Amino acid sequence: MPIDESQVTDAVAAVTDPELRRPLGELGMVGRVQARRKKVTVEVALPVADYPQVDELVDRIRRAVGPLPGVDELTVDRVVMGEEPRARLRMLLRGEPVDGGTQHAPDDGHGHGHAHGGKLGHEEGRPNRFMLPRSKTRILGISSGKGGVGKSSVTVNLAVALARMGYDVGVLDADVYGFSVPKMLGITAEPLIIGDLVVPPTANGVRCLSMGFFVADDTPVIWRGPMLHKALEQFLVDAYWGEPDFLLVDMPPGTGDVTLSLGQYLTKTEVFVVTTPQPAAQRVAQRSAYAARKLKLAVRGVIENMSWFTGDDGTRYELFGAGGGSQLASELGVPLLAQVPLVPALRAGGDEGVPVMVAEPEGEAAAVFGRLATAVVDLGPARVYRNELTLR
Ligand SMILES: Nc1ncnc2c1ncn2[C@@H]1O[C@H](COP(=O)(O)OP(=O)(O)OP(=O)(O)O)[C@@H](O)[C@H]1O
Ligand SMILES: [Mg+2]
Repeated sequence: MPIDESQVTDAVAAVTDPELRRPLGELGMVGRVQARRKKVTVEVALPVADYPQVDELVDRIRRAVGPLPGVDELTVDRVVMGEEPRARLRMLLRGEPVDGGTQHAPDDGHGHGHAHGGKLGHEEGRPNRFMLPRSKTRILGISSGKGGVGKSSVTVNLAVALARMGYDVGVLDADVYGFSVPKMLGITAEPLIIGDLVVPPTANGVRCLSMGFFVADDTPVIWRGPMLHKALEQFLVDAYWGEPDFLLVDMPPGTGDVTLSLGQYLTKTEVFVVTTPQPAAQRVAQRSAYAARKLKLAVRGVIENMSWFTGDDGTRYELFGAGGGSQLASELGVPLLAQVPLVPALRAGGDEGVPVMVAEPEGEAAAVFGRLATAVVDLGPARVYRNELTLR
């Protein structure tokens, strides 16, 4: 039986790209398909030369084409997309209108992602689809009054817990004082740059962008501030997030500039305050909650961390006192959504890039994060409080 080239083309076009999570046909990544007797050669047009997850992509093409009638031998050729299809892809990912045509002959240039941004009419500062009030994306701002209370650990593990429930989840590391999220999440790849579009790398099912990818560790915090302000906007506008179910934002502690700019860009941010059990911590946490409210962001709940340590005999030791979380929650009039125990694997996992959700999925902490994720889902999106929407 001869190979039906158009059947092969259709099969390749329907394969989902692991990186961009859309069908290859839609992305314009299907190159030439040629069949000669029982041999078929498929060209896949990569957006940039060093494309991440390319092996997984080739595997997927093999699984789709291999079983087709008449195919005995399959060669997948990797080529780099030409300027024009790449520019079109960028517009597509940005959600700008592009005209049809799903197949493009690749050129032989080795693009490194310089697709002359703006040439095809990209509007400066146009918000990403997920930022619009009507999008399904819930933006969860994880905040705390002061550093070191476990904000990043909570962000990462809640993100992984939500991803495990099947949600599409991204994390934006906006903590100017320390970019710890990529490392904690286990991100090893650099972000993919297509023209002026940044595609966040993925680990443990969660996409992540961090200023840490772009500034050296030893950049003084005083410089990071203003850089971050601009970069945040870029991360939100020029990054390809698609329309995730949840975007978690690891916010800087306290009430500084970055929180302000986040409030401006992400008006539908729901704030979750992380605190520790001692009553003194809770006053500081309260201030950040009030600051969020001043920005008209909805404060949705409190998460208490380092609540206790469970000994081998099951005894709970409340090393940092007790009651801070529930006290803060009742003062703010929001629920206490979780009490996260002190767990050695949580710290070790953070250092090694294996979130405790993954390292000890059956453990005490993972169970808490699982329940926290369910509680967040059950809360549902916040009502947006905006003056202009208020009836007087
Ligand atoms: N429940 C926990 N059990 C054990 N270790 C924890 C727990 N929560 C946090 N840690 C550890 O405490 C340290 C601080 O946590 P984390 O970095 O998440 O806090 P943070 O509030 O984001 O801090 P920073 O202000 O530095 O960004 C980390 O080493 C982390 O691994
Ligand atoms: Mg942190």
